[in-house]
This record gives sequence, C-alpha cells and structure tokens, in this order.
Amino acid sequence: MFNQIVLLCRPGFEKECAGEIMEQANQQSFPAYIQTNESSAYVSLVSSSELNTHDLITKINFQQLIFTRQWFACDKNPLSLPETNRIPDILDAIKGFADTFADVELDYPDTNEGKSLSKFCKQFRPHLVSALKKNCLLSAHARWCLHLFFTDSLHVTIGIAPIDNSSADNMGIMRLKMPGKAPSRSTLKMEEAIHWFLSPQQQTTLIKNGMTVVDLGAAPGGWTWQFVKRDCLVTAIDNGPMDDELMKTGMVEHLRTDAFTYAPKKQVDWLVCDMAERPLHVSRLIARWLSNRQCTHAIFNLKLPMKKRLATVHECIDLLHQNLTEANIKHTIQAKHLYHDREEITVCITTEK
Ligand SMILES: C[S@@+](CC[C@H](N)C(=O)[O-])C[C@H]1O[C@@H](n2cnc3c(N)ncnc32)[C@H](O)[C@@H]1O
Repeated sequence: MFNQIVLLCRPGFEKECAGEIMEQANQQSFPAYIQTNESSAYVSLVSSSELNTHDLITKINFQQLIFTRQWFACDKNPLSLPETNRIPDILDAIKGFADTFADVELDYPDTNEGKSLSKFCKQFRPHLVSALKKNCLLSAHARWCLHLFFTDSLHVTIGIAPIDNSSADNMGIMRLKMPGKAPSRSTLKMEEAIHWFLSPQQQTTLIKNGMTVVDLGAAPGGWTWQFVKRDCLVTAIDNGPMDDELMKTGMVEHLRTDAFTYAPKKQVDWLVCDMAERPLHVSRLIARWLSNRQCTHAIFNLKLPMKKRLATVHECIDLLHQNLTEANIKHTIQAKHLYHDREEITVCITTEK
C-alpha cells in the first residue's frame, strides 16, 4: 500500500540515518533509494519496485537503528491541505490505512523551521483526535499509530508505524526535566540512556540498592548522580573536581587518577564512561573491562569523528562484539544517537553472569 518510509533524525545526521536504513533494506532484499536534504532532519526511503513499505516497517527492528529517532510508512506524495477545515481531507486520505489506530502523532522536522510548527501541531491535535474518535478510528488495542508529518501547515505526509516497533515518544524525543540538584546537564544523557536501553523491569533489577559503579571521566558528577539517586555506590575517576553536594552523600569515592590505567579491586556491577576520547580507544577499554569481568554491564559514549561516522560506529561495535564473544561472554549490545547526544552516540552492553 505504501511506497516510502520517512525517518526522523537529528539535523546533520541524515547521511548516517540513510546509510543505516539502506543497509537494512538491502538485508531484506528490498529495492529502494534515498531522498534527503542536508540538515533537513529527515530521510525518505523510497521503494523502487512494487514491494510496499507497509511490510518492511514491521520486518526491520527499530531498536537496531542507531540514528533514527522515529519512523513511519507512508505514500511518497504529500497531501496538500486547505487553509481551514483540514480534517475532512485527512479523514479521506487515511481510509484503508488500518481499521483503527492506537494513537495519533503529529511530527515535524527537528530544525528551526520545523520547530515553528510546534504550536500549530499542539493546537491542531485535539481537533484531529476528536474527529478520529467520532469516526471510531481510535482503539487502545490497535497495532498502528497514525503519523502526520508536517513540513508546513498546508502540506502533510500521512503514514503509520507499528506501536511495538517505533518510538513511544513523540517524534522519538524523550523529554526529560533537568533535575534541580544534578551537578551537570550531562545527567540527562544517562537518564535517557537508562530509560531507552533498559526495560522498566531491568531498570529495577539491574540498577539497585548497594550495587557498585565505576564512572570513568566522572566530573562534575551528572552520571554519578543518576546512580547515587538509585542508591548505588560509585567510584568516580577524574582529575577534575566533583560536585560538593554529591560528595556529601557519602555514596561516592573520588579518585584523581587516569581512567585508562585504573583497575577495580573486584568486579563492579556497572562501568560508565563519558570521556571525549577516540572512539576505538574507548571501545578497547570497555572491551577489556567486560572481557576480564572487571564489570558486569556498561554504558558509555562514543564520540563521533567528523568523517566516516557510520563506519566508525560499526568498527567499534564489531570490536566489542568480537572481544566479548572470544571471552565467551553472552552479551547484548545496543547503541543509540540519543536526543541528549550531540556529536556522540551512547552504547549499552549488558551481559549474563
Ligand atoms: C564530559 S566530562 C564528563 C561529564 C560527566 N559525565 C557528568 O555527567 O558530569 C568528561 C570528563 O572526562 C575527564 N577525563 C578525560 N580524560 C580522562 C582520563 N584519561 N582520565 C580521567 N578522566 C578523564 C575530564 O576531566 C572530564 O571531567
């Protein structure tokens, strides 16, 4: 039915987003090409055969896409809308998309121009929801979410995404409030990582009271703060100063030493690492800790180089996977360009004891 998938990403990362979806489409033997513009914050994968993207979007695992925030299958041609009373045209366009929708999401590109549509979308959504309800098109048990992607208030691309294979957050953006007492804004990265990579059950079983954490490059302590908040004991490694209030909790030991030579006396539950270092250098360090069983799980950043960003990410993940496989450690590697990440991605590795 549909011949396109639209993928939303951070502006400036269209090339990586496109590269990844093409790799996945090729793996599914799905002939397609890419349409995108630099810094547009979205990418279109267009079918170049009779095959439809309605099936493809259920076959590619959304969690595997590092640079995609949100996606939906749709028709290549956007719908032109009148200046007033847009709802009848929209209802007409979605006939046959699905019997019912679990929800409706109004999207726009995450660019300065796109953001100017935020107010329009906020005001328009309640009218649309009410029309969908009146037409019995919303149901809590439905499998698909309806997406309306506006590039301006008179043009919309309408599509659907499987609710169990797309982001639960509007436009794939996890909106988090900066905790007043956290020592740095970086704390939001770790909070987002915990929510993104770990299920609610894993969040309570894998990070809990009394667990031990090593934070490499910890100062001033935003990441450490997230673990202290969850009652963990943290060893913070950094030559720079840690936040005074955080140190007063008595839950943090601060060691002014080099993160690349420090080794724990016994295995810790978590290793976290947020240093602006070469990504392969960091990957080797993390691989060593996990392979030697100096830590059980890890969350860390990989700073992206200026060029060959996707190839570098693949190289790092392959290195980690190979090292852990050789060490006979059952593991899961997840990676994401989180909303709070800029020129880096975040990686989470969990292992079985
Ligand atoms: C981006 S900051 C970390 C911010 C921290 N995650 C937070 O949430 O507050 C990076 C830190 O890494 C530290 N760092 C860089 N290289 C290091 C090394 N080789 N050993 C220890 N610390 C290092 C720096 O001193 C700096 O404080």
